[in-house]
Amino acid sequence: MDSMYNVTDAFTMVHPVTLSKGKNAQVWDTDGKRYIDFVGGIGVLNFGHCHPHIVDAIVEQSQNLIHYAYNAAGHLPYQTLMPRLCDLIPIEGELAGMLTNCGAEATENAIKIARIKTGRVGVIAFDGGFHGRTLAAVNLNGKVAPYKRGLGPLAGSVYHIPFPSPDNGISDQYAIDALSRLCEVETDINNIGAIIAEPVQGEGGFQLMSPKFAQYLRKFCDDNGILLIMDEIQSGFGRTGIPFAFKHLGIEPDMILLGKSIAGGLPLGAVIGKSSVMNDLPKGSLGGTYSGNPVACAAANATLDIMSEDTVWVSAKHYQQTIKTTIEQWQQEGLTPWLHGLTGIGAMRGIELRHPYHGTHPSVMAYILAEGRKQGLLLMPSGKYRHIIRLLPPVTIEPETLQEGLTILKGILASIPDELPS
Ligand SMILES: Cc1ncc(COP(=O)(O)O)c(C=O)c1O
Repeated sequence: MDSMYNVTDAFTMVHPVTLSKGKNAQVWDTDGKRYIDFVGGIGVLNFGHCHPHIVDAIVEQSQNLIHYAYNAAGHLPYQTLMPRLCDLIPIEGELAGMLTNCGAEATENAIKIARIKTGRVGVIAFDGGFHGRTLAAVNLNGKVAPYKRGLGPLAGSVYHIPFPSPDNGISDQYAIDALSRLCEVETDINNIGAIIAEPVQGEGGFQLMSPKFAQYLRKFCDDNGILLIMDEIQSGFGRTGIPFAFKHLGIEPDMILLGKSIAGGLPLGAVIGKSSVMNDLPKGSLGGTYSGNPVACAAANATLDIMSEDTVWVSAKHYQQTIKTTIEQWQQEGLTPWLHGLTGIGAMRGIELRHPYHGTHPSVMAYILAEGRKQGLLLMPSGKYRHIIRLLPPVTIEPETLQEGLTILKGILASIPDELPS
């Protein structure tokens, strides 16, 4: 399909459809076919497609000032957004930050800041983690194929340890032992400037970091002069049912990375951290022509307005309760032996497909995605074996649309054929 449009074939397009319109949790393709959207542009539309308040903000801003590079001159949308973001992020003390064009650029900047502030180049990341596709961020990803294949030497020194989670059977002790081994065998701890983690892994399968381990990690960083970076690019902005997922872990990071749902679909990211970390950096070392573009900032300001309304959190609660009770009910009914259970937390839930005898199987996800698309439901895979359906509809999804989507999904799960191609 893509060669028809002169787009490189390097993208994996999960759904070969061409979309033309979206409204809250629904999208339409160019043939007018309607889909319930459980993908949300991969976690970008937590508050829905074309939210009227965001659309109004975009229109108004684009009539006044579409662009100015913050490295050249300031503008109000940026200057309004930053204090609001810093107020919203539950980290004690004074915060400061910068805006970027996307998530990967936020990752890159956080690593630059950590290197400059600590004078150390080493970074510890996690198996199964995902932090972006740019050349330095890619090395932090805890998965070689397809991200690192063919790239040659990558920006070091990056080390990975297992991600302990109630969702994957990896214990805290196993990860702690791996961290100890790393410091004994691989590198001097005094070379490590940062540890980066997603509080809930997105690409890795919607797995919650063990809160006890997160608390261990916080102390480990404090004891060793290491900055703790929480990547909330996918888990932030209400995805888990609260503004930021690290609150589930009972810790505060030194820096937090934002992106995706920050601006209702406009490209924007951010690095926010303690002002002691984010200030006193070399002048001119951070920035970018488009990062913090006025229209994207206006959309982000509108997103924060939406997040200040109770109705959003009532919707998110309804969504998360419905998902939990419905999937648990399907399990009790014995809907399909492939249904292993739910991963994640709150409104950031994955459906794990793991057969008691056959384990995981790539054809199962392929079948579910294709059937969903045929029946008007867009779904997205994640996890090491693409065996987890990650549910990313807007948390503002209307109850009846959610019900309709779940009914389609139930039918598809119940119809997974016994005989799968090998
Ligand atoms: C946790 C996480 N970090 C970073 C990124 C990279 O963000 P972007 O695609 O905007 O560069 C993603 C994107 O999926 C992500 O989920």
